[in-house]
Amino acid sequence: MSDLFKFKFQKSSTTPSEQTAGAKPVTIETSMKLETFVKMRELIYKFCGIYYTDSKKYLLEGRISKRLPILKITTFEEYYNFISSSVSNREELNQLFIAVTINETYFFRAEQQFDGLEKILIPEIIKRKKVTGDKVFKIWSAASSSGEEAYTLAIIIKDRIQPLFPGIEFQIIATDINTNVIDAAKKGIYKDYAVRNIKPNLLKKYFKQDGTSYVLDDSIRNMVKFQQLNLYDTFAMRNMKNIDVIFCCNVLIYFDTVSKQKVVQSLYDSLGQGGYLFIGYSESLHGITKSFKLIHLDKAMVYKKLLPNEN
Ligand SMILES: C[S@@+](CC[C@H](N)C(=O)[O-])C[C@H]1O[C@@H](n2cnc3c(N)ncnc32)[C@H](O)[C@@H]1O
Repeated sequence: MSDLFKFKFQKSSTTPSEQTAGAKPVTIETSMKLETFVKMRELIYKFCGIYYTDSKKYLLEGRISKRLPILKITTFEEYYNFISSSVSNREELNQLFIAVTINETYFFRAEQQFDGLEKILIPEIIKRKKVTGDKVFKIWSAASSSGEEAYTLAIIIKDRIQPLFPGIEFQIIATDINTNVIDAAKKGIYKDYAVRNIKPNLLKKYFKQDGTSYVLDDSIRNMVKFQQLNLYDTFAMRNMKNIDVIFCCNVLIYFDTVSKQKVVQSLYDSLGQGGYLFIGYSESLHGITKSFKLIHLDKAMVYKKLLPNEN
């Protein structure tokens, strides 16, 4: 029993293997067959654009294997059949998104980008808005994970930007495909790891310590609207409109060129005229699109939306 382990099922009426399982101990596969991996990878790619390369097979195995005992399924092939035959059942698809995404993040992760936003982009965009009379400033954290990026923006806006521009209404929208992280974000409770980059004065001002947890103040929590959104769902992405600044950081790395192009086109369409797109420090739009101009801020770079006749 090299790559199999023993598992004792609970009795249930809704599981694919239940009739054969009974209450007897059964074996659950721990290694995915290559053909199943290829099919699983295609399915994940089709629904969310994330591409698992051959070298990441072990990662996918580890992540999906947690679903097998929960569904009382014994093989990865059976899991594939279950999920591909019930894609209209959003629940397991959501569980798959939770299983396959990587959610690493923390407050003030991209300090130089936030600096450029505060000191250069916001004053410039607001100057333009004064001409048109637009009083709403929309910022979107487009792969927000558990909310640290969006709440960092909220802290900066409340602490330093709103007082300079009292007539402007700042709206922060945060989205992610993974409903677990969205639920955690809404709670606004964090551990040491997440808050380690926050300056002590801001930590003290906007968090309350409760044992080993840091509870975000409601005045910041209420500034961000969270919702589930799949960047790869072109139709759903059309609801995001007239955004001034998008942060879509550290997610494009999980996509291949074709899915990057699809997502970046949707982000382009979501931006208002002259809007800006931040991506992660290790990411680039080189070879993906010519619809943006790369602008150097003080210590960070940002992509500015070009009009169709400008590129
Ligand atoms: C590494 S985290 C980045 C969090 C934050 N933007 C940062 O830079 O700290 C990547 C996030 O992208 C999300 N993600 C992956 N694929 C996605 C998709 N197709 N649509 C929306 N979010 C996605 C994951 O759930 C994960 O929370």
